[in-house]
Amino acid sequence: MLLKFRMTQEELFKKLIAHCKEYGYIFPSSEIYDGLGAVYDYGQNGVELKNNIKRYWWEAMVKLHENIVGIDSAIFMHPKIWEASGHVGAFNDPLIDNKDSKKRYRADVLIEEYIAKLEEKVEKEVAKGKKKFGDTFDETQFRSTNPNVLRNVEKIEEVRNKMKIALNSGDLNRLRDIIIDCEIACPISGTRNWTEVRQFNLMFSTQMGSVSNDTNLIYLRPETAQGIFVNFLNVQKTGRMKIPFGIAQIGKAFRNEIVARQFIFRMREFEQMEMQFFVRPGEEMKWYEYWKNIRMEWHRSLGFGNDKYRFHDHDKLAHYANAAADVEFNFPFGFKEVEGIHSRTDFDLGNHQKFSGKKIQYFDPDTNESFVPYVVETSIGVDRTVLLVLSAAYAEETVAKDNGETDERVVLRIPPILAPVKFAVLPLVKKDGLPEKAKEIMNTLKFEYKGQYDEKDTIGRRYRRQDAIGTPFCITVDNRTLEDDTVTIRYRDTMAQERVPVTSLSQVLDKLINMKYALQDLELKTNKYK
Ligand code: GAP
Repeated sequence: MLLKFRMTQEELFKKLIAHCKEYGYIFPSSEIYDGLGAVYDYGQNGVELKNNIKRYWWEAMVKLHENIVGIDSAIFMHPKIWEASGHVGAFNDPLIDNKDSKKRYRADVLIEEYIAKLEEKVEKEVAKGKKKFGDTFDETQFRSTNPNVLRNVEKIEEVRNKMKIALNSGDLNRLRDIIIDCEIACPISGTRNWTEVRQFNLMFSTQMGSVSNDTNLIYLRPETAQGIFVNFLNVQKTGRMKIPFGIAQIGKAFRNEIVARQFIFRMREFEQMEMQFFVRPGEEMKWYEYWKNIRMEWHRSLGFGNDKYRFHDHDKLAHYANAAADVEFNFPFGFKEVEGIHSRTDFDLGNHQKFSGKKIQYFDPDTNESFVPYVVETSIGVDRTVLLVLSAAYAEETVAKDNGETDERVVLRIPPILAPVKFAVLPLVKKDGLPEKAKEIMNTLKFEYKGQYDEKDTIGRRYRRQDAIGTPFCITVDNRTLEDDTVTIRYRDTMAQERVPVTSLSQVLDKLINMKYALQDLELKTNKYK
């Protein structure tokens, strides 16, 4: 199998977005009304993929850890919760407007884009050197001596440091100064006619009840975590949970993102899978390291290659954290955050105790002491994981046919445990009793896994259709099936075919699709951290 041709990452990303729409994965929301910015709907295949991802995360949390239980809290919460959590005061983006284009930007993103351009210049210079010197090219030496590379690297470091200081001190004037000093222009108007930088709160608000006034103002939750914190005592007491223990939740979150780009990477309505792990004060760094390892193993277990992931330690810590790292994935637009692991101290429980006036403490029977637990959080976006899976799975290939000719296919190499459609049953022809036999097989297997029956078009075209949605196994019913009750299984990734008895189909598929085996493997890999 050959990769059809070398696409740029940008081309690949565009093709992926088009593919997602064409094959029922993801549609722009409200499309017939020209869409709604950064809001998307999941189609018939997208919803299955999303549900499978959620299930794999949920079971890895609540089944593999006896001390983790789940909840499902409401999206609407008491408005004081968001004061206590710090979101009313500090969940802001620094925004700047261009006076000519009237366009609004995140000041830090403008600076990051400026840095990215300098980085691009460095890489171009290196590529030029490679071309010029051929086999004799010494990249390390080139990077440490070429004046253009050195100048740009120095500038990158300088701007990065200045931005870090400005963001950490919340100094909006300094942030603006960087934009002015670097002569950053508006991509639309091309001018440098900027307003001051202002903070903009990312929470959506609405009114509850029939009377519209400030006392009825409530927020759509910007993270699911707070629903866990405010239920800490309910779960701990009713579940008789002993520290350390965790509470997991999957649910919608809403953020009025200003820079909403890159398809489902940054959305205004999205889903999170969060787990808050409650520990003794002073033990949080041990658990922080533990959860970094456990979560990385979960990602790696999907089989896209360990080199596709890396950790990124936060330069600027959120208002609640004393340590934080992102799990980054190499998306078509570079390494970007897919999950955050945060050591949140006792900030949230402590503040809820203060703001609610209710004691939120844990009595430790081992030490006879009461304390406000510390928290280590793992927080992963469902939609970002969907994008991760799809971008890693998408491939265009030239494949050899039996007659020596070649064919082209687009295939989604989605891990079988996550694939939306697990198997397709295909009668080779639409006659001679084959459809009846195929439907019989379909009607047996459908109780175990989501499958598709397809009898339209040539078998080759049907295989391509299944490849394009990522179906890992096609079961073909032919004349021999009627004689000896065997079928062929065609494997999506290798396109190899294997003849198996119909009676063993369920067993063969189970081994490849059942999440149970992936969870068993994951447990083996994570045991060493316990
Ligand atoms: N409770 C902590 C928290 O919410 P976060 O880093 O702001 O931390 C966690 O968000 C994860 O949620 C991110 O790693 C990302 O996967 C996802 N996420 C955050 N904002 C998002 C957005 N606008 N669109 C899609 N996913 C988002």
